[in-house]
Amino acid sequence: MKNILVLPGDGIGPEITTEAIKVMNAAADAYGFTLNFDFARIGASAIYKDGNPLPDETVEKAERADAILLGAVGLPEFDGEKDPNRRPEMGLLGIRKKMQLYCNIRPVKTYEAIKHLSPLKEEIINGTDFVIFRELTGGIYFGNKGRSADGQTAYDDCSYSVHEIQRIAQLAYEEAMRRDKKLLLADKANVLETSRLWRETVTAMNKNYPEVKLDYQYIDNAAMQVVLRPSQFSVIVTENMFGDILSDEASVIIGSLGMLPSASYGIKTALFEPSHGSYPQAAGKNIANPMATILSAALLLQYLGFNDAAKAIENAVDQALTQKVCTMDINPGKPSSTSAVGDFIAQTVKANAKIAVH
Ligand code: IPM
Ligand code: MN
Repeated sequence: MKNILVLPGDGIGPEITTEAIKVMNAAADAYGFTLNFDFARIGASAIYKDGNPLPDETVEKAERADAILLGAVGLPEFDGEKDPNRRPEMGLLGIRKKMQLYCNIRPVKTYEAIKHLSPLKEEIINGTDFVIFRELTGGIYFGNKGRSADGQTAYDDCSYSVHEIQRIAQLAYEEAMRRDKKLLLADKANVLETSRLWRETVTAMNKNYPEVKLDYQYIDNAAMQVVLRPSQFSVIVTENMFGDILSDEASVIIGSLGMLPSASYGIKTALFEPSHGSYPQAAGKNIANPMATILSAALLLQYLGFNDAAKAIENAVDQALTQKVCTMDINPGKPSSTSAVGDFIAQTVKANAKIAVH
């Protein structure tokens, strides 16, 4: 039995995690394993209840879990808050840092059935299938930050150690070996010292993976290439903030941010969450797209070793798209509700498992 900690968070978080749990339970049933779900608070919902976006209890539970599923954090009420104890995002940044979730993986691939939703031309997006390895616990996000005494100057330091670069680069190289042996480092080595250390370190590691063809692009060029010729990419490894920006941009290729899952690997455990935000305007309306969270749940099951179940979920999402059982971001003419999409995917997982057995 595996213990999964669910952190529903804010906005649409509770609804989309409910659907992901529904689908995981269906997969567990169909493939004969047991999952145990526990819950804890994070983000604005924790600020309201506990006065802090990342209560100790949440961290303690996270440390004991085999894997963590997160919905989303953030509410407009807290925009512009200066006190870190009143900033929902601090819950997310806090758990990443505390659990040392240093490697954030964001797969980007097009779905045949929703190609028309992309603002990019079909001939550009055809064949897109890459993955961004974003460093998640270092860089400018976590450096010293502050203001000068007169308040007229602000700073956010960016630093990286060889160790921090090596541990994510190793995972990126391994992924390149599983794919077509192409790795791209996106950096700003023409300007930044941290980027030069990234280049040196990632280049030196190439001798351990001699079959991998390592390439480099400056991040500004990479940002352009991602929408110009996305099919050129396979595995992109990059630092924290570059990866943040590049992954939102990459979601445009697919046509909906509601389709982009993510996995964050750490030393002890891993956390899975959609790449989108908490979409507070849709909260409680049963209209939000649960697919990115359901696909994140598939990555979670894969991480726990339930590969067939994970694959079955991905196939069921494909079927939902093909049969247009989709929320209004994808099928505005005849939208299904959040829970109806979850029901369909859960049932499809079960039905496909039955067919596979016979
Ligand atoms: C993400 C988000 C977060 C980030 C925010 C909410 C702090 O944009 O997961 O990409 O910048 O990492
Ligand atoms: Mn982001």
